[in-house]
Amino acid sequence: MKLNWAERLIVNNPVRVMIQRQIIAWIDQTVAPGARVLEVGCGRGAGACLLLEKFQPAALHALDLDRRMIHQALTYLTPEQRRRISLYVGDVFSLPYRDAVLDGVFGFGVLHHLPDWQAGLREVARVLKPGGFYFLEEFYPQFYQNFLAKRLFLHPEHNRFRSHDLRQVLEDCGLSLRQCLEQKQLGILAVVTKEG
Ligand SMILES: C[S@@+](CC[C@H](N)C(=O)[O-])C[C@H]1O[C@@H](n2cnc3c(N)ncnc32)[C@H](O)[C@@H]1O
Repeated sequence: MKLNWAERLIVNNPVRVMIQRQIIAWIDQTVAPGARVLEVGCGRGAGACLLLEKFQPAALHALDLDRRMIHQALTYLTPEQRRRISLYVGDVFSLPYRDAVLDGVFGFGVLHHLPDWQAGLREVARVLKPGGFYFLEEFYPQFYQNFLAKRLFLHPEHNRFRSHDLRQVLEDCGLSLRQCLEQKQLGILAVVTKEG
Protein backbone atom coordinates (compact mmCIF):
# COMPACT_ATOMS: atom_id res chain seq x y z
CA MET A 1 0.00 0.00 0.00
CA LYS A 2 1.40 3.41 -1.01
CA LEU A 3 1.88 6.17 1.55
CA ASN A 4 -0.57 9.05 1.95
CA TRP A 5 0.63 12.69 2.11
CA ALA A 6 1.05 12.60 5.93
CA GLU A 7 3.32 9.57 5.97
CA ARG A 8 5.28 10.89 2.99
CA LEU A 9 6.07 13.93 5.17
CA ILE A 10 7.21 11.65 8.00
CA VAL A 11 9.55 9.54 5.88
CA ASN A 12 10.87 12.14 3.45
CA ASN A 13 12.68 14.37 5.89
CA PRO A 14 16.13 14.73 7.50
CA VAL A 15 14.97 13.40 10.90
CA ARG A 16 14.04 10.09 9.28
CA VAL A 17 17.50 9.97 7.67
CA MET A 18 19.12 10.47 11.10
CA ILE A 19 17.00 7.66 12.56
CA GLN A 20 17.81 5.36 9.63
CA ARG A 21 21.51 6.10 10.08
CA GLN A 22 21.27 4.99 13.74
CA ILE A 23 19.35 1.86 12.77
CA ILE A 24 21.89 0.92 10.10
CA ALA A 25 24.75 1.49 12.57
CA TRP A 26 23.01 -1.02 14.88
CA ILE A 27 23.02 -3.80 12.25
CA ASP A 28 25.94 -6.14 12.93
CA GLN A 29 25.57 -8.10 9.69
CA THR A 30 28.55 -8.04 7.34
CA VAL A 31 28.20 -8.01 3.58
CA ALA A 32 30.85 -9.85 1.61
CA PRO A 33 32.58 -8.18 -1.35
CA GLY A 34 30.70 -9.33 -4.42
CA ALA A 35 27.37 -9.57 -2.57
CA ARG A 36 24.06 -8.84 -4.35
CA VAL A 37 21.72 -6.93 -2.08
CA LEU A 38 18.18 -5.57 -2.49
CA GLU A 39 16.22 -2.95 -0.59
CA VAL A 40 12.44 -3.37 -0.85
CA GLY A 41 10.16 -0.34 -0.37
CA CYS A 42 13.11 2.03 -0.65
CA GLY A 43 11.00 5.22 -0.73
CA ARG A 44 13.05 8.20 -1.92
CA GLY A 45 16.31 6.24 -1.60
CA ALA A 46 17.80 7.77 1.57
CA GLY A 47 18.22 4.32 3.15
CA ALA A 48 19.83 2.90 0.01
CA CYS A 49 22.48 5.67 0.13
CA LEU A 50 23.25 4.81 3.76
CA LEU A 51 23.39 1.08 2.96
CA LEU A 52 25.82 1.77 0.14
CA GLU A 53 28.01 3.83 2.47
CA LYS A 54 28.13 1.18 5.22
CA PHE A 55 28.11 -2.13 3.33
CA GLN A 56 29.65 -1.29 -0.07
CA PRO A 57 27.89 -4.20 -1.82
CA ALA A 58 28.96 -5.09 -5.35
CA ALA A 59 25.34 -4.71 -6.47
CA LEU A 60 22.62 -2.76 -4.67
CA HIS A 61 19.11 -2.86 -6.10
CA ALA A 62 16.32 -0.76 -4.63
CA LEU A 63 12.64 -0.93 -5.55
CA ASP A 64 9.41 0.75 -4.54
CA LEU A 65 5.80 0.23 -5.58
CA ASP A 66 5.27 3.98 -5.82
CA ARG A 67 6.55 5.52 -9.05
CA ARG A 68 6.66 8.98 -7.40
CA MET A 69 9.06 7.69 -4.76
CA ILE A 70 11.39 6.32 -7.43
CA HIS A 71 11.30 9.68 -9.24
CA GLN A 72 12.17 11.42 -5.98
CA ALA A 73 15.00 8.94 -5.43
CA LEU A 74 16.41 9.77 -8.85
CA THR A 75 16.78 13.40 -7.77
CA TYR A 76 17.85 12.60 -4.17
CA LEU A 77 20.80 10.41 -5.23
CA THR A 78 24.06 11.91 -6.48
CA PRO A 79 25.21 10.84 -9.98
CA GLU A 80 27.77 8.49 -8.35
CA GLN A 81 25.07 6.90 -6.14
CA ARG A 82 22.76 6.56 -9.17
CA ARG A 83 25.53 4.69 -10.96
CA ARG A 84 25.90 2.26 -8.06
CA ILE A 85 22.25 1.75 -7.06
CA SER A 86 19.77 0.16 -9.51
CA LEU A 87 16.47 1.86 -8.74
CA TYR A 88 13.21 0.58 -10.16
CA VAL A 89 9.45 0.48 -9.67
CA GLY A 90 8.59 -2.99 -8.38
CA ASP A 91 6.37 -4.98 -6.09
CA VAL A 92 7.63 -7.02 -3.16
CA PHE A 93 4.92 -9.60 -3.95
CA SER A 94 6.61 -10.50 -7.24
CA LEU A 95 10.32 -9.83 -7.09
CA PRO A 96 12.01 -10.09 -10.50
CA TYR A 97 14.66 -12.58 -9.37
CA ARG A 98 15.14 -16.31 -9.65
CA ASP A 99 15.08 -18.39 -6.47
CA ALA A 100 18.04 -18.11 -4.06
CA VAL A 101 20.10 -15.48 -5.89
CA LEU A 102 20.42 -12.63 -3.36
CA ASP A 103 22.82 -12.39 -0.40
CA GLY A 104 20.73 -9.91 1.52
CA VAL A 105 17.44 -8.01 1.57
CA PHE A 106 16.66 -4.86 3.59
CA GLY A 107 13.17 -3.60 4.37
CA PHE A 108 12.58 -0.45 6.40
CA GLY A 109 8.95 -0.10 7.44
CA VAL A 110 7.54 -2.07 4.52
CA LEU A 111 5.89 -5.30 5.77
CA HIS A 112 3.23 -3.47 7.81
CA HIS A 113 2.18 -1.71 4.58
CA LEU A 114 1.42 -5.02 2.88
CA PRO A 115 -2.17 -6.35 3.01
CA ASP A 116 -0.74 -9.90 2.73
CA TRP A 117 2.50 -9.51 4.68
CA GLN A 118 2.92 -13.31 4.89
CA ALA A 119 3.13 -13.48 1.07
CA GLY A 120 5.67 -10.63 1.13
CA LEU A 121 7.84 -12.54 3.60
CA ARG A 122 7.61 -15.74 1.55
CA GLU A 123 8.75 -13.81 -1.53
CA VAL A 124 11.75 -12.33 0.33
CA ALA A 125 12.68 -15.80 1.60
CA ARG A 126 12.36 -17.23 -1.94
CA VAL A 127 14.97 -14.89 -3.46
CA LEU A 128 17.50 -15.24 -0.60
CA LYS A 129 20.38 -17.67 -0.90
CA PRO A 130 20.69 -20.19 1.93
CA GLY A 131 22.67 -18.29 4.60
CA GLY A 132 21.46 -14.98 3.16
CA PHE A 133 20.04 -12.35 5.51
CA TYR A 134 16.96 -10.18 5.74
CA PHE A 135 16.94 -7.02 7.82
CA LEU A 136 13.56 -5.68 8.87
CA GLU A 137 12.36 -2.60 10.71
CA GLU A 138 8.68 -3.11 11.48
CA PHE A 139 5.84 -1.61 13.48
CA TYR A 140 3.03 -3.29 15.39
CA PRO A 141 -0.66 -2.22 15.25
CA GLN A 142 -0.59 -0.59 18.70
CA PHE A 143 1.72 1.97 17.11
CA TYR A 144 -0.05 2.71 13.81
CA GLN A 145 -3.68 1.75 14.56
CA ASN A 146 -4.17 4.00 17.57
CA PHE A 147 -6.74 6.83 17.54
CA LEU A 148 -4.43 9.50 16.10
CA ALA A 149 -2.40 7.37 13.68
CA LYS A 150 -5.57 5.89 12.14
CA ARG A 151 -6.79 9.38 11.29
CA LEU A 152 -3.46 10.57 9.91
CA PHE A 153 -1.99 7.60 8.06
CA LEU A 154 -3.13 4.91 5.68
CA HIS A 155 -2.39 1.25 6.46
CA PRO A 156 -4.12 -2.04 5.71
CA GLU A 157 -6.61 -2.67 8.52
CA HIS A 158 -6.92 -6.45 8.52
CA ASN A 159 -4.48 -9.34 8.80
CA ARG A 160 -2.06 -7.33 10.98
CA PHE A 161 0.91 -8.82 12.84
CA ARG A 162 2.23 -8.54 16.34
CA SER A 163 5.43 -10.02 17.70
CA HIS A 164 4.18 -13.59 17.98
CA ASP A 165 2.63 -13.67 14.47
CA LEU A 166 5.73 -12.22 12.86
CA ARG A 167 8.06 -14.66 14.63
CA GLN A 168 5.87 -17.61 13.63
CA VAL A 169 5.80 -16.69 9.93
CA LEU A 170 9.54 -15.95 9.89
CA GLU A 171 10.10 -19.43 11.24
CA ASP A 172 7.65 -20.94 8.69
CA CYS A 173 9.67 -19.24 5.93
CA GLY A 174 12.91 -20.78 7.24
CA LEU A 175 14.20 -17.43 8.53
CA SER A 176 15.96 -17.62 11.91
CA LEU A 177 16.31 -14.63 14.21
CA ARG A 178 19.97 -13.62 14.62
CA GLN A 179 19.87 -10.07 15.96
CA CYS A 180 16.81 -8.44 17.49
CA LEU A 181 15.70 -5.30 19.30
CA GLU A 182 11.99 -5.26 20.11
CA GLN A 183 9.49 -3.08 21.94
CA LYS A 184 6.29 -5.13 22.12
CA GLN A 185 4.00 -2.04 21.97
CA LEU A 186 5.96 -0.45 19.16
CA GLY A 187 7.82 -2.72 16.79
CA ILE A 188 10.99 -4.58 16.00
CA LEU A 189 14.41 -4.30 14.40
CA ALA A 190 15.76 -7.67 13.39
CA VAL A 191 18.25 -9.50 11.23
CA VAL A 192 17.18 -13.00 10.23
CA THR A 193 19.06 -15.53 8.15
CA LYS A 194 17.76 -18.12 5.75
CA GLU A 195 18.51 -21.62 6.89
CA GLY A 196 21.02 -23.45 4.73
C1 LIG B 1 6.86 3.56 5.49
S1 LIG B 1 7.51 3.71 3.87
C2 LIG B 1 9.23 3.49 4.16
C3 LIG B 1 10.08 4.16 3.11
C4 LIG B 1 11.60 4.02 3.36
N1 LIG B 1 11.97 2.61 3.34
C5 LIG B 1 11.97 4.63 4.69
O1 LIG B 1 12.22 3.88 5.64
O2 LIG B 1 12.01 5.85 4.80
C6 LIG B 1 7.04 2.18 3.08
C7 LIG B 1 7.43 2.12 1.61
O3 LIG B 1 7.04 0.84 1.11
C8 LIG B 1 6.52 1.02 -0.20
N2 LIG B 1 5.65 -0.14 -0.49
C9 LIG B 1 4.42 -0.40 -0.02
N3 LIG B 1 3.94 -1.54 -0.55
C10 LIG B 1 4.91 -2.02 -1.37
C11 LIG B 1 5.01 -3.17 -2.23
N4 LIG B 1 4.02 -4.05 -2.33
N5 LIG B 1 6.14 -3.35 -2.91
C12 LIG B 1 7.17 -2.46 -2.82
N6 LIG B 1 7.12 -1.34 -2.06
C13 LIG B 1 6.01 -1.13 -1.34
C14 LIG B 1 5.76 2.35 -0.11
O4 LIG B 1 5.53 2.91 -1.39
C15 LIG B 1 6.71 3.16 0.76
O5 LIG B 1 7.66 3.88 -0.01
